[in-house]
Amino acid sequence: MINIPRGTQDILPSESPKWRYIENRLHEISRQFNYKEIRTPIFESTDLFARGVGDTTDIVQKEMYTFKDKGDRSITLRPEGTAAVVRSYIENKMHGDANQPIKLYYNGPMFRYERKQKGRYRQFVQYGVEAIGAENPAMDAEVIHMLYTIYRSFGLKHIKLHINSIGDMESRQDYKQALIKHFEPVIDTFCSDCQNRLHINPMRILDCKVDADKEAVKNAPKITEYLNNYSKNYYEEVKRYLDILGVPYVEDTNLVRGLDYYTHTAFEMMSEAEGFGAITTLCGGGRYNGLLEMLDGPKETGIGFALSIERLLLALEAEGIELPIEESVDLFIVTMPETLEATVQLVAKLRTEGLSVDMDYLNRKIKGQMKQADRIQAKYTFVYGENELQSGMIKLKEMTSGEVKEISIDEIVTSIK
Ligand code: HAM
Repeated sequence: MINIPRGTQDILPSESPKWRYIENRLHEISRQFNYKEIRTPIFESTDLFARGVGDTTDIVQKEMYTFKDKGDRSITLRPEGTAAVVRSYIENKMHGDANQPIKLYYNGPMFRYERKQKGRYRQFVQYGVEAIGAENPAMDAEVIHMLYTIYRSFGLKHIKLHINSIGDMESRQDYKQALIKHFEPVIDTFCSDCQNRLHINPMRILDCKVDADKEAVKNAPKITEYLNNYSKNYYEEVKRYLDILGVPYVEDTNLVRGLDYYTHTAFEMMSEAEGFGAITTLCGGGRYNGLLEMLDGPKETGIGFALSIERLLLALEAEGIELPIEESVDLFIVTMPETLEATVQLVAKLRTEGLSVDMDYLNRKIKGQMKQADRIQAKYTFVYGENELQSGMIKLKEMTSGEVKEISIDEIVTSIK
């Protein structure tokens, strides 16, 4: 027997209605905030992520599904959406569009070769947004307000929004030097990843799962002490707008995010629900002011976030929230051997008139067909035998109340609707 690849899952018919419900809600909230959908390829040139996400990140160093195609090109299954959206923005010259800022959203599978764990998959579905072309704290606040709106709209209560500023490039440079100085004397006691990070990307040490409890991590210098005036003011304004919008948050100076492109505002939504598991980040994002230029684009800046539907489902489960999902069939027609052909025709006709209809194909007895109608949660049934065919009259039964109404075949659609 061939099994499903590690870290992936089948979304079975019992689960897929939840996905559809969530995705419909996400499309609807995107519309309310005036973000337009973009669909980019599932694979891209490896270079895009190496340059866009950053050579020193875990994603690029350890987690990408990279292969050579038959034309000897290095191809990577997308590990995230931002780099690809920015590539498309540049390639399609969206900065020339009169309609600015460009506000986009996407929803689709991403791939990371990660250690399988609750809430961590090798293929997962990210919904994300990117607003490109407005460097304005109110823009940052809109994006954060949007993700807050999403989680609240599903009724989640045990969530906490963490925010931080990691400053502009200048502030970050100073901060990096301070971190190197701080960690250098003790780096031997850190994991090998952190030892490698020290000189290339010391901020990532703050984010390390292995070394999180070390004293040196807890008393490391804070980025907020190294923000220059522009960065400091920008951050203050973002917080002011979040207050205006009534979005609650906590400031978290250790929040640095795992991708290289971030500047200024960084944020993550965490679940605080009991039983959620070890990985509590539901969603992450931030502003990226250098990314477009890094990818040879115009001098524009952007901000966005991404969440995975898998973790949203886990959060709903942990808080015991049931989605209002209805998967019933309008009508099940009980057929007889002598009316099989007429039933096939009638089912087809009623479907074209907008009803969801099913019938028996296993030559079940009437009782067996009734059970089948129950199993598929049919709202109505009727028996379509020789008598009904001749008279054109049927006894329509409403399954929950058991109520039976005699009507003509022409009245089925109006009676049910
Ligand atoms: P990220 O923090 O790498 O950011 O991922 C965002 C979200 O994707 C996570 O918070 C989590 O919900 C989900 N996620 C990541 N990896 C997995 C996994 N292995 N299994 C299940 N869910 C996962 C980004 O990807 C950025 N592109 C976000 C962004 C958009 N920043 C600006 N714009």
